[in-house]
Amino acid sequence: MDVKGKKAIVFGGTSGIGLATTRQLAALGASVVAVSRDPGKAGAPPAGVTLAKCDVLDRAALEALFKQHAPFDILISAATGGKRAMGPFLAMDMDGYRASFDKLWGYANVVRFGTNHLSKDGAIVIVSGAPARKCKPGQVSLSSVGASVEALVRAVAPEIAPRRINVVSPGTIDTPILAAQGAEREALYKNITARHLIPRAGTAEEVAQAIVFLVQNDFVTGTTIDVDGGWILS
Ligand SMILES: NC(=O)c1ccc[n+]([C@@H]2O[C@H](COP(=O)([O-])OP(=O)(O)OC[C@H]3O[C@@H](n4cnc5c(N)ncnc54)[C@H](OP(=O)(O)O)[C@@H]3O)[C@@H](O)[C@H]2O)c1
Repeated sequence: MDVKGKKAIVFGGTSGIGLATTRQLAALGASVVAVSRDPGKAGAPPAGVTLAKCDVLDRAALEALFKQHAPFDILISAATGGKRAMGPFLAMDMDGYRASFDKLWGYANVVRFGTNHLSKDGAIVIVSGAPARKCKPGQVSLSSVGASVEALVRAVAPEIAPRRINVVSPGTIDTPILAAQGAEREALYKNITARHLIPRAGTAEEVAQAIVFLVQNDFVTGTTIDVDGGWILS
């Protein structure tokens, strides 16, 4: 797909990976609607980008947003959906574990209600995470949610063809998802990536490049691209 002149909706498009994707699509000439619960935090949008407020867990609001902006060609979601429960499974807060699946439900809502308004040669990309296939201790919720996101894409791809759907699986990426700042942040990234083949945190731009590739390449559907510095081989 030539992105120039196309219309894109990017959920989670106001921070981190989604924001970098919004910027790259806009730079390639797409008109982009960047969506989140509190879009004002992105500051003034770049040329070609408009901001919209919507919670991916609110199905009625999502349907209204899609109707307002239909038809569109590119549908991305990098919205985290809610909070993640971390830590060893035998000490797991089970309500927190269940709530971690808000990421899956948010993506599922976007795909379920957005695909009806997507052009026939349109493309969808959503975001899982390296723990889906290489889980480190304490990441059971990330692993099970990420694996279900990848399974959703493989299951849905045949049903919505010729429209395409794919996943990008990031490793450790330097975005606002991590609250720690300064030296504490640097030390955390250094520690958690020390055994990776490329021992550093990735950037949101590096992940967005893979998302844009999956939009542009018309021969790829139902699959996952890892952008993880070699996490799953480490
Ligand atoms: N960063 C990493 O190391 C990493 C690693 C593996 C996977 N991932 C995955 O990559 C995706 C993007 O992560 P990120 O690091 O870019 O996170 P981020 O910087 O925290 O951005 C998350 C975005 O999602 C939006 N959002 C969250 N819940 C939402 C909801 N219910 N409805 C609508 N928008 C919502 C947020 O905006 P509002 O708060 O305004 O709604 C924000 O724009 C996530 O799925 C994350 O799990 C990240």
